[in-house]
Amino acid sequence: MVEKITHDVVVIGSGLAGLRAAIEAARVGNSKLSIAVVSKTQAMRSHSVSAEGGTAAVLYPEEGDSIESHIYDTIKGSDFLADQDAVELFVNMCPVEVLLLDHWGMPWSRRPDGKIAQRYFGGMSYPRTCYAEDKVGFFEMSTLYDTCLRFDQIEFYHEYYVTSLLTNDGKFAGVTAVNLSEGDLVAFEAKAGVIATGGAGRLYNLASFGHSSTPDGLYVAFRANIPLKDMEFVQFHPTGLVPSGILITEAARGEGGILRNNKGERFMERYASKSKELAPRDIVSRSIMKEIYEGRGFKDEHGNEYVELDLTVIEPEKVKTRLSGIREICMKFIGKDPVNEPIPIRPIAHYYMGGIDTDIDGATSLPGLWSAGEVACVSINGANRLGSNSTSECLVWGRITGEKAARYALSSSSNSIDKSKVAEEEKRVFDRLLGPRPRTSPYDVKRKVQSIMENHFYVYRDGESMLEGLKKLRDLKNTLELGVEDKSRKYNTNLMNVFEIEAMVHVAETIAISAVNRSESRGAHYRVDYPKRDDVNWLKHTLVYKTVDGPEIGYKNVVITRFQSVERTY
Ligand code: FUM
Repeated sequence: MVEKITHDVVVIGSGLAGLRAAIEAARVGNSKLSIAVVSKTQAMRSHSVSAEGGTAAVLYPEEGDSIESHIYDTIKGSDFLADQDAVELFVNMCPVEVLLLDHWGMPWSRRPDGKIAQRYFGGMSYPRTCYAEDKVGFFEMSTLYDTCLRFDQIEFYHEYYVTSLLTNDGKFAGVTAVNLSEGDLVAFEAKAGVIATGGAGRLYNLASFGHSSTPDGLYVAFRANIPLKDMEFVQFHPTGLVPSGILITEAARGEGGILRNNKGERFMERYASKSKELAPRDIVSRSIMKEIYEGRGFKDEHGNEYVELDLTVIEPEKVKTRLSGIREICMKFIGKDPVNEPIPIRPIAHYYMGGIDTDIDGATSLPGLWSAGEVACVSINGANRLGSNSTSECLVWGRITGEKAARYALSSSSNSIDKSKVAEEEKRVFDRLLGPRPRTSPYDVKRKVQSIMENHFYVYRDGESMLEGLKKLRDLKNTLELGVEDKSRKYNTNLMNVFEIEAMVHVAETIAISAVNRSESRGAHYRVDYPKRDDVNWLKHTLVYKTVDGPEIGYKNVVITRFQSVERTY
């Protein structure tokens, strides 16, 4: 008999967006609603804790920044694919969220006058990124988690892996999840839900994502027939430490760090004469790879290619106080102190602009279900996100979706779960996966997905190679016979990994088919066979739908309010 746990609102995921959604649902519900936060990790181990550089918001218009400028930077940064109404809403709400966090105890770094300090980030025409040294995610998560704990009506279910969405009468009714510590399936019944499980994560091996970042939320939504949007747009962060791929925050360049090739040249001068290292990420990543491909990179003894990030040009005290986290990472992982010598870096998978298709309120196509944060595509990021807009987006749409879900729950009668669907899911999970011995090693499958994505869907793409990659992914999917070697129930991480790897295969395919389909270059999707942006045919969002014959492509208009597309120069 599957245990049933009933709440009014269930939030799936406990990163920045999930915690913010839970808080807002609790504030709006005003003790009339009970809220569950269901997370596959202990909440404070969510990947958001590793966010480094900052949170964008216009705080000091009297000193020269403006809402208008943040709006335009974001739209231009997105290569004009962002929905402009959503960007306007976003930019207007960012300052409120930053100040609310301050009020809840966030230890923002301060200026000498005591006000919240801000710094430059790529593609931003003003230093509007608020920070707490370079450990922003950790401090934001701690602040939000502490705030959640003040609300009796928020209950945490740490280490529950959500396996499916439940619907009744065409509406969201809850989720099934495996309680990892016991190994039992449980059913959460709820009137409203928010998916906030983060992006597609480690589909690439060289990535800034923690190993627990996998496309779980995207996959459960897709399986429930909710379309995914703009999946072809994968962001490669220019500065991942070589060889581990650990993020070296863009703040390092915001504070003055310089990129150099093997001739000692500051090569960004050639690619973005005005912004140089602070051009948007798609441009900086392409420039680095061009330097490497044309023989101006370095190679280590294991064959890893890279360029150098030089922080020795920054006043050492600044590095020690504002970039203490990455300094420690460099000293521990490569034995170099960036105060004294340049460090090896190259582009790493860092963020997915695409995600669950939502409207401006974060509502999905399933009534009663919202989505927020990296897993969602509202879309404010279009074809390329600007650094430090992501943590802000988590806060803004965490708040919006938490409020919407709470109001919906307050005005709805309960929507009970269908027991037969839960029984079906129990069979799928325990008979199929914990039944016969697996014929394919899930870990081999994972390595194969990562290698296909890295070889065929990296910074530079071309049609022929992408088709080959798509074929490899389809072959992998069609011969997939996942199963779990370890048959134990308690803390069976092998079982959890199999769920995660199944999600990786299917979500990778949605990226591949969207990328093959878009025959232009826009933002992070750069095709050598179609090197130009094509607004006539492609100023539109891609949708991917689940069908019995596999993923199918559709489209959605971009919302354009005031800004017509122009050539992006930096
Ligand atoms: O470079 C960074 O600190 C990353 C920030 C972001 O992705 O927004």
